[in-house]
Amino acid sequence: MKVSSAIRAALAAVLVVATMQAQVKPRPIPRLVEKDGRYALMVDDAPYLVLAAQTRNSSAWPARLPLLWPALEYDHVNTVEIPVYWNQVEAQPGKYDFTVVDMILAEARKHQVHVIPLWFATWKNGSQHFMPDWMKMDTARYAHDVNRNGEAVDSPSPFATASLEADKSAFAALMRHLKEVDPQRTVIMVQVENEPGSYGTVRDFSPAAQKFFDAAVPPEILRAMNVKAAANATWQQAFGADADEYFNAWAVAKYVGQVAAAGKAVYPLPMYANAALRNPLNPGPPSGYESGGPTDNVLSIWKAAAPSLDLLAPDNYQTDPAAYLKDLELYHRADNALFLPETGHPENARFFFKVLGLGGIGFSPSGGNTEAEFRPTDTSKARFDALEPWAQNYRLIGPMQREVARLNFEGKLQAVAEEKGKVSETLGFGTWNALVGYGATGRGPAVGNAIPTGRALVAQLSENQFLITGFYCRIDFRPAGTEEQRRSQQIAIGNGQNPSALIDGKWQHRQFVRVEEGTYENGVFKFQRMWNGDETDWGLKFSDEPVVLRVTLATY
Ligand code: DGJ
Repeated sequence: MKVSSAIRAALAAVLVVATMQAQVKPRPIPRLVEKDGRYALMVDDAPYLVLAAQTRNSSAWPARLPLLWPALEYDHVNTVEIPVYWNQVEAQPGKYDFTVVDMILAEARKHQVHVIPLWFATWKNGSQHFMPDWMKMDTARYAHDVNRNGEAVDSPSPFATASLEADKSAFAALMRHLKEVDPQRTVIMVQVENEPGSYGTVRDFSPAAQKFFDAAVPPEILRAMNVKAAANATWQQAFGADADEYFNAWAVAKYVGQVAAAGKAVYPLPMYANAALRNPLNPGPPSGYESGGPTDNVLSIWKAAAPSLDLLAPDNYQTDPAAYLKDLELYHRADNALFLPETGHPENARFFFKVLGLGGIGFSPSGGNTEAEFRPTDTSKARFDALEPWAQNYRLIGPMQREVARLNFEGKLQAVAEEKGKVSETLGFGTWNALVGYGATGRGPAVGNAIPTGRALVAQLSENQFLITGFYCRIDFRPAGTEEQRRSQQIAIGNGQNPSALIDGKWQHRQFVRVEEGTYENGVFKFQRMWNGDETDWGLKFSDEPVVLRVTLATY
């Protein structure tokens, strides 16, 4: 078989990397930590903000890998989400082949990015399409879901114990391999399955499933759903009309949780499951979305049934901004770190700031948004145009992602994204209020951008010093006052008036002591120039340019 030069190069990279492995001093194992209800993904023992892009589903192959990097570099990612295919890893039962995994690691290291492998295994978008061929050909042993009419559907059964045992063994083998070959911790977190659940049936109605459906609901599920029911209540008795869906969520979560646990037992990297979402504002029946996945209405079941998963993550493709934002809120929980493993529709790119504002640990547009359609002959920059809305965010935040992650974990950061009709917002920081306005010109009032693309980030570095950045917005500050005085400030914001507040009967005015533009390099703010005069007299305006300001304030 003629091996293409791309594969030869990649194999050579693997060889080089393999020999270098021996000398690599193991780095700390990444972990998810929580403090005061805030989360951080610790990489090299410090908070890390995942600025990822997901490749397309069929891109994790040696012939394709080298083609991915021009777009990923344009995206300014620090992490790549990329599938690992069970049907490639275990083409023969019990024989595991990690050459592709090793190639992915070698390429990622060469491009100095981290990796989040997506374990495409029992479930991929509710189907078993990435199960090994030898399993697909034996549906008696590796059963599909059966619908109410007794017909097999294109979803794997969570009651197929042979599938579960095979998945656990293969995933544990993958995690064992990663532990052996990745002391530098290129891999920082692992997605277990992909959008697990079922389409075409609300649950498995097979006899194997029905036996459990007619049995008592596990007590931890009754507790999780805060249901007052008899201890031996069946699913139907406890949950009525929701019984089928909740039962499926428990069964799928239990399965995925056992696969994750098998992997964690050998290499305890952070692990998560991703959800195909329902419409949070108008969900409709489970026949209209993927039943059994970690959708917003069954997160507590997933938490109880799959404790080995560190978080549950929404694949947020909502086109209605209200639904998009509602889903961010629903997955931002005291028991769940917010992480967007997939998102899409370029008008949602501004909501990366909203994810930061909710303490999110990372964000990733999906393959269709980040992997330019590859025509190797097309070397024009235009082929990256579709990536720009996403790349714009990462180009700005990337150089200071560690600072942003740390400040967020410390609770010193707020970030917002413009919503239609909301022309300004106030972010409280103790003695100061940061005032964000959209669509303001000159000293004029904030009137909103024609298309809501504004976004702002404000982080407190010390009592009177802030780090600010954003796009298509104006940021200013006012001394914070009592509730009554804040109302006067709110009026002032709308009129774009001077940054002043009435405090204890005395007007206090904001003054900029210094407004320094700069960039972060290895954690150090590098001064570039001072803003003053027209650049500061009417508030600090951010356009589409990637500008970061360190602002020192005082009053008079
Ligand atoms: C969500 C899945 O998780 C992705 O793999 C992909 O199939 C998108 N849907 C659609 O492009």
